Amino acid sequence: MCGIVGCTSTQKNIIPILLDGLKTLEYRGYDSAGLSFIKNGNLIINKVKGRVQDLENHLAKDENAKIGIAHTRWATHGKVNEINAHPHNVGSITIVHNGIIENFNKLKHKLKDKGYHFKSQSDTEIAAGLLDYYYNKYQNLDKTIQKFIKKVDGSYAICMLVNNDPNTIYVIKKDSPLIIGKGENINYIASDVPAILKYTKNYYILEDCEYGKITSDNITIYDKDGNILNKELKTYQGSNLTSDKGTYKHYMLKEINEQSITIRKTIDPYINNIDDLLKLPDLTKYERIDIIACGTAMHAGLTAKYLFEECTNTKCEVFLASEYRYQNNFLNKNVLSIFISQSGETADTLAALKKVKEAKCDTLGIVNVKESSIARALDKVLYTEAGTEIAVASTKAYTAQVALLSVLALAQAYRKKSIKEEKILKILEEFQNISSTLIPILENAQTYENIAKEIYKQNDIFYIGRSLDYYVSMEGSLKLKEISYIHSEAYAAGELKHGTISLITENTPVFASATIEKINAKTISNLKEVVARGAKCYLITDENIKDENFTIIKIKKVSMFLKPLLIVIPYQLIAYYTANLKGCDIDKPRNLAKSVTVE
Ligand code: M6R
Repeated sequence: MCGIVGCTSTQKNIIPILLDGLKTLEYRGYDSAGLSFIKNGNLIINKVKGRVQDLENHLAKDENAKIGIAHTRWATHGKVNEINAHPHNVGSITIVHNGIIENFNKLKHKLKDKGYHFKSQSDTEIAAGLLDYYYNKYQNLDKTIQKFIKKVDGSYAICMLVNNDPNTIYVIKKDSPLIIGKGENINYIASDVPAILKYTKNYYILEDCEYGKITSDNITIYDKDGNILNKELKTYQGSNLTSDKGTYKHYMLKEINEQSITIRKTIDPYINNIDDLLKLPDLTKYERIDIIACGTAMHAGLTAKYLFEECTNTKCEVFLASEYRYQNNFLNKNVLSIFISQSGETADTLAALKKVKEAKCDTLGIVNVKESSIARALDKVLYTEAGTEIAVASTKAYTAQVALLSVLALAQAYRKKSIKEEKILKILEEFQNISSTLIPILENAQTYENIAKEIYKQNDIFYIGRSLDYYVSMEGSLKLKEISYIHSEAYAAGELKHGTISLITENTPVFASATIEKINAKTISNLKEVVARGAKCYLITDENIKDENFTIIKIKKVSMFLKPLLIVIPYQLIAYYTANLKGCDIDKPRNLAKSVTVE
């Protein structure tokens, strides 16, 4: 979603640094870009609809400045066009903004009554107007910002230039991430650490309702009442973002293929002998586990629900964070809430987490990005080691989440003795060998490409399964629709007859997985029902099934705890090859953002 970069330096030209930072954030998804800087005391604003490269082409080759702010916009209020792109300037104030100003309409009317005119449809222009209004009124920037924090509802990470203060960048933050990077005679601002990692690893994290003043040689951070804060300077510990696709055509393909490594790396501390499982948090005292997440992360949660309930006899509910935050959560001290997030910045997940914390109940997280907002807010975090995921469609983060949740459930089974030790040892051995189990599935590219050729011109595709197979099919369906733009739905196989089967016509593709012995026959019957109505069926199974009515993708028989990892890979690769045949922008699908930082 939207990205922010700012920089002020004593000597260096900051234009290439701003462009470089924006390029690093491109993977998050955006539709327009803009940049503003001060040159010879004059404010210059450049904005384009399109890519950061278009913005760069738009600037003079030798453009030079010592202070500036930049932005990539993912439209929320108003169309994708140059006028709605950031920065927005009103009077003396120029800002870039991530988040949503919820009371912008009310503020807009008030400002209009005071004589303000607005050019765009963006809520950000109203925020700039409000800041300008208070600045004119108080002639004091601290008072201006403090008043702004009091009056504005919603989420914001704001980076601001002020006409008659040409050496300072001001920042304000609430419910949208913002960091300040520290250099030598140069300081940086960014919505995400990777944007500035090439230049500095040292940074301050702004918390909600804090604001800051940044010059090339000084950083001061204040609380909402204007008290100076003594903040901890953090040092980034992770590895640098690699922007290298290697020999792969797309990041998504590279990331799918990395899964044989990333899964193993994520679970390695817990699987080498049975007592390693005890390094995982003890969840036995909880009567219920709630899992809260969005999109693919929520699908990972569903696989854990299956394992906790079927293999450890622990009640487990899974919620979409966007729903959870507005419903009755029936929380009490005996409930553990587990939050799953790749980015650690998803607005709905973060809001749901804050709700659980307000109720003073225990939280645990499965997060990929270290030091992200969600990671910092949790009581306890288990990190997935998927590395940086650049493709918008999540693949290696999903399998890392599934694997970590699976070993967490296995640890619960060990502690509760719901599975015999002998069997646990066998499962651990399977986890130790996961890389070699996955490699042949990953290498089966020809099969997936052939299937892609058969389906890429279709308009509707269905995914079915029962129980755990159904949960993985939801992820298979999401992968296909988000990158190939083919409409697809996942259904519990037994539910088809209750309505959906009316959509099955000649040659409608139907994917199924059947890997749970006691119910496989039922899923196969459901598949036969759609074959009888003309569907073209593809079946992922670990059984020895021979049926000329289906194209069969055979996977190795493994324990329940590993099955989703094996089933999902053919689904990911079929989605990939289908989108590739359609010529889609696979790594940056239309309308989507990597990190969904607005509600
Ligand atoms: O960063 P998060 O894991 O919190 O993101 C949650 C979803 O937005 C994300 O999984 C989304 O569904 C993916 N684009 C799916 O591939």
